[in-house]
Amino acid sequence: MMESSRYLKITGGTPLHGSIRIQGSKNAALPVVASGLLLGRGETLTCTNVPQLRDTETMAALLRALGMTVTFENGSVTVSRTGDLSCEMPAAQVQKMRASSIVLGPLLAQQGRAVMPMPGGCTIGARPIDLHLKGLAKMGAQIELHHGAVYATAEKLRGCRIYLDFPSVGATENLVMAAALAEGETIIENAAREPEITNLVQALQAMGADVVFKKDNQGIIQVNGKPELASGSVRVVPDRIAACTYLLGAVITGGEVTVTDVMPQHFDSLLAKLEEAEVGYLRQEDRVTVYPSRERMKSLSVKTMPYPGFPTDVQPQLMAALCLAHGTSVVKESIFESRFQHVPELRKMGAEIDIQGNTAVIRGVETLNGSDVQATDLRAGAALALAGLAAEGETRVHGLKHILRGYEDFDKALNNLGANVSIEEGEGII
Ligand code: UD1
Repeated sequence: MMESSRYLKITGGTPLHGSIRIQGSKNAALPVVASGLLLGRGETLTCTNVPQLRDTETMAALLRALGMTVTFENGSVTVSRTGDLSCEMPAAQVQKMRASSIVLGPLLAQQGRAVMPMPGGCTIGARPIDLHLKGLAKMGAQIELHHGAVYATAEKLRGCRIYLDFPSVGATENLVMAAALAEGETIIENAAREPEITNLVQALQAMGADVVFKKDNQGIIQVNGKPELASGSVRVVPDRIAACTYLLGAVITGGEVTVTDVMPQHFDSLLAKLEEAEVGYLRQEDRVTVYPSRERMKSLSVKTMPYPGFPTDVQPQLMAALCLAHGTSVVKESIFESRFQHVPELRKMGAEIDIQGNTAVIRGVETLNGSDVQATDLRAGAALALAGLAAEGETRVHGLKHILRGYEDFDKALNNLGANVSIEEGEGII
């Protein structure tokens, strides 16, 4: 099937060189901005270091559609509650972005009722929201599903003990926000421990919420609900996934890249793997440099895990690098069931990858060849772009819109590092 779309044209073979300031985290910015829904009337939340992306703009539009006043300029978002709010999340925004589902909890807590059409977003698995809904039900919400929408009602949410079967990032975000306005104490056990959760907790604390990590963030969050939250400000943490992507760009092209304005402790899981693969790097307080090595990187065995394990959002980009490693690597995806959609595309470029269930076996090859490939989701697209940077000849990554959901000025950033890429208009492939 053909579709008219923009694609990323890459002339490969140039090692990346230079330094790049890493954007604020998309996945942290979304819940941080959404938490503005918890404000009392007349109060404002100011969020800085917000990346200018389609997804952050969708979140701003969603909050506006609900009746919040939102400004978004030069990386700063202000969210104010001025008038009355609507309980109905508009399908237009929700279907554009799966993460819209994190608005359900705070909207319900604030309004006593919330209606959400089932969300869209990246196609990397079934991605149910049962844990979000079960948690809200445990807090006293009545949840009904009909006509493709979730209807949630609760005069007043009540604090309670919630044990998550899996440390879901989105469910933790939804529930911690709902608990901030619930009556009494909520304990969330087996909560996600991602840096994005810590950033959300910082935002809630800045607005006067009583939220703490118990036992030094070992997955237990304690919340004492307040009737309403007040003005506050918060800085969005650096994007660890973007940092990892650009560092792997240096690895795959044999270049030297410094990522700055980062928190390296957020991606030690990647740095440990680079060390194992004998890739040289320097880790400083707020920057990391990957050095070129004379030898190809060594093969690796990697399993994706909840934080602080190896992130599923870096699995495709690391796999792209492993296609050119010395030896055979094994990558096990344990978070999402269909997250190997980059594999057939990498094969088109000459990669040798076998898949058995949720495990990919990658036999390193000496070269990849430029090709027409299709990005099916955000990180798969980033992986294909990295492969294109290292490949011989020209690569066209179709489905560019997926990549632009997560990377600010992706083409300019790569060109500033010496790459040869451009965004082109044209027929794409699916
Ligand atoms: C977030 C990130 C995404 C990342 C993922 C895992 C955002 C906007 N997105 O997604 O980039 O890849 O964390 O680090 O922050 N699950 C259920 N029931 C639920 C919720 C989740 O079974 O109610 C399952 C999912 O299907 C998946 C796993 O739990 O298999 C992890 O999902 P979750 O941590 O919730 O990811 P998201 O919040 O959707």
